[in-house]
Amino acid sequence: MVASDLIEIENVVIIGTGLMGTGIAQVAIEKGFAVTIVGRSQDKLTQSQSKIRNGLNRIAKKRFPDDAATAEEFVEGLLDNLSLVKTIAEAPIEDAQLIIEAIVENLKVKQKLLADLEPRLANNAILCSNTSSFLLEDVSDKFNSPERFAGLHFFNPVPAMKLCEVVKGGATSDVVYDSLLAFVRKLGKTPVKCGDTPGFIVNRLLIPYLLEAIHMNERGDASKEDIDTAMKLGTGHPMGPFELLDYIGLDTMKFVVDGWHQRYPDDPRFAPSETLDALVAEGKLGRKSGEGFLSHA
Ligand code: CAA
Ligand code: NAD
Repeated sequence: MVASDLIEIENVVIIGTGLMGTGIAQVAIEKGFAVTIVGRSQDKLTQSQSKIRNGLNRIAKKRFPDDAATAEEFVEGLLDNLSLVKTIAEAPIEDAQLIIEAIVENLKVKQKLLADLEPRLANNAILCSNTSSFLLEDVSDKFNSPERFAGLHFFNPVPAMKLCEVVKGGATSDVVYDSLLAFVRKLGKTPVKCGDTPGFIVNRLLIPYLLEAIHMNERGDASKEDIDTAMKLGTGHPMGPFELLDYIGLDTMKFVVDGWHQRYPDDPRFAPSETLDALVAEGKLGRKSGEGFLSHA
């Protein structure tokens, strides 16, 4: 396909003000895209904007170490590309070439969102999900134009992680898919091509590993601290599995595990964990709540 056939992406709407929506928005405004984030409350939008400002400040300090005024101008200039709205109704969906949903990992909630968006999409618009674990086929169950739907699976923290999995659904058109590969490259990320399989590439390998670390600790085979140290020093991972679980968010992890356990009830790789369930029930969600498997006070 020649470049002129690709869908020219300029305006991006990102739905979700959490870890992922915020991170994707930061990277997109940094690369010059006009971005609207849709949140559910002014508080969440303000938090998201201030995280983006902090992230951009880090970049600006590195780029202009001796020039605070230029650094500030750089950040404020990029923030001009960002708009914040509280509801989907207020979002400029009709003007966007790309809409990325990065809301809670709940299938029904995602399906309803897609159905609500569909009548407002421009003819050339692409809709993507950042789902960690669902099949695109299931997310788009109530969506009538699956040829314009695909997965863009970013990694946390988005500004630092260089990968994006670009997931082709059974019906995703070639022009949509190639346009997304080009978009990911413009963001400065490396795309990998994935088919519509549970967990795509990374999570299919990562989630069973993280779960086995939890089960290893539950069996009393080793402490959380020793498991983390072992994986960091023994395999060069930047974080051990318990640090990473808290980083991902235990609520998100539980959504993934529960979904896969329901789908594959006899597969021991996706067996639920009582410890994970108990932590989530207590509101201990990892870094985002200050405590999870580890304390982040
Ligand atoms: N904005 C801009 N830049 C940022 C940033 C931000 N918010 N956060 C980090 N960075 C940049 C830093 O500036 C730095 O850049 P340079 O190398 O150019 O200096 C780089 O990222 C590394 O940052 P730090 O030096 O502050 O941090 P670190 O060395 O302590 O590493 C880490 C932090 C990147 C989080 C590292 O610990 C790590 O890679 N951890 C593992 C993360 C991981 O595995 N993520 C995947 C989770 S799974 C997932 O996401 C999928 C899913 O569906 C669940
Ligand atoms: P998060 O908990 O940080 O944020 C979730 C967002 O969803 C928030 O903006 C919240 O307001 C919104 N939300 C919650 N319930 C909602 C509802 N009923 N309707 C609409 N919005 C609702 O989660 P996150 O980590 O940003 O994850 C977002 C998506 O990205 C999920 O699909 C997750 O699986 C995926 N993902 C997460 C990671 C990770 O490491 N955390 C990595 C890659 C992909």
